[in-house]
Amino acid sequence: MSLISKTALVTGAGQGIGRSTAQRLARAGANLIIQDIDADALSETMLHLKAFNVDVLTLTGDLTEADVPEQVVQDCVKAFGGLDIIINNAGYIWNGALHNHSETQWQAMLDIHATVPFRILKAFSEWLRPTAKAEIQSNGFACCRKVVNVSSVSGTQGSATQVGYAAGKAAVIGLTKTLAKEWGRYNVTVNAVAFGHIETRLTQGYSDSIPEIKVGDQQFRVGLSNQQRNALAQTVPLGRAGTVDEAAGAIYLLTLPESDYITGEILTCSGGA
Ligand SMILES: NC(=O)c1ccc[n+]([C@@H]2O[C@H](COP(=O)([O-])OP(=O)(O)OC[C@H]3O[C@@H](n4cnc5c(N)ncnc54)[C@H](O)[C@@H]3O)[C@@H](O)[C@H]2O)c1
Repeated sequence: MSLISKTALVTGAGQGIGRSTAQRLARAGANLIIQDIDADALSETMLHLKAFNVDVLTLTGDLTEADVPEQVVQDCVKAFGGLDIIINNAGYIWNGALHNHSETQWQAMLDIHATVPFRILKAFSEWLRPTAKAEIQSNGFACCRKVVNVSSVSGTQGSATQVGYAAGKAAVIGLTKTLAKEWGRYNVTVNAVAFGHIETRLTQGYSDSIPEIKVGDQQFRVGLSNQQRNALAQTVPLGRAGTVDEAAGAIYLLTLPESDYITGEILTCSGGA
């Protein structure tokens, strides 16, 4: 119960890595704000959280709408009186080689993977700065708070057909390293996890027709052909894709008190790839 009395926001908590992370943090005792664009998926996550004796607030909305990130942060602070942990996880893929990449596609990938975390953290700073300053004045130090941004090996190494996605996931690394420098004075650790191949709907295998997912009103082609999955597995020393629980474990490590002196780091969670 290392996160007891902490309050954590997890974006994109409706399924996949986000849902598993919410479960992991709840098991450690954290109260949660779970956010997603998909209300049905979020309700299902809520059912999974029933087993844990923690408070949970659900927030539905499209984080790429300009005022939603600020509203989310305000709702968290209003409901719980503060915010200790932020997991910027919401995301999706919209793949295509550069010559097929539209401006809309490029912008969409930057919006969800870079602008949304920027807006959430900017809104958080409005509450953080006066709060941390007051804590320093009365106790001599500010409580340690944690930000974990979700990146990808596409952002650290590049990935064919993912120019927009890779740029967004690289941008969030710049955001992470910069805020680690700016927010050290407030005792906030800011780190990122760069995932390799994790089993979710984004990486589901297919043999014939390419699967599609719905994000808001839009459909996106996702998945990896069985051939691509086999080729990928061969580049992974552990020989397989990661599970969502293993992905959540990597995020969890960076929320623990044991990581209080780790900031500005990019933890790769890729089975060694
Ligand atoms: N699965 C992988 O192999 C992998 C690898 C590297 C990085 N990632 C990253 O991990 C994160 C989670 O991905 P996942 O694989 O669990 O996918 P997922 O599709 O299972 O979950 C992502 C969640 O984000 C939500 N979301 C998307 N756009 C949103 C928006 N505008 N507003 C609010 N919610 C929104 C979706 O509804 C969904 O519930 C993403 O940032 C993804 O880019 C995944």
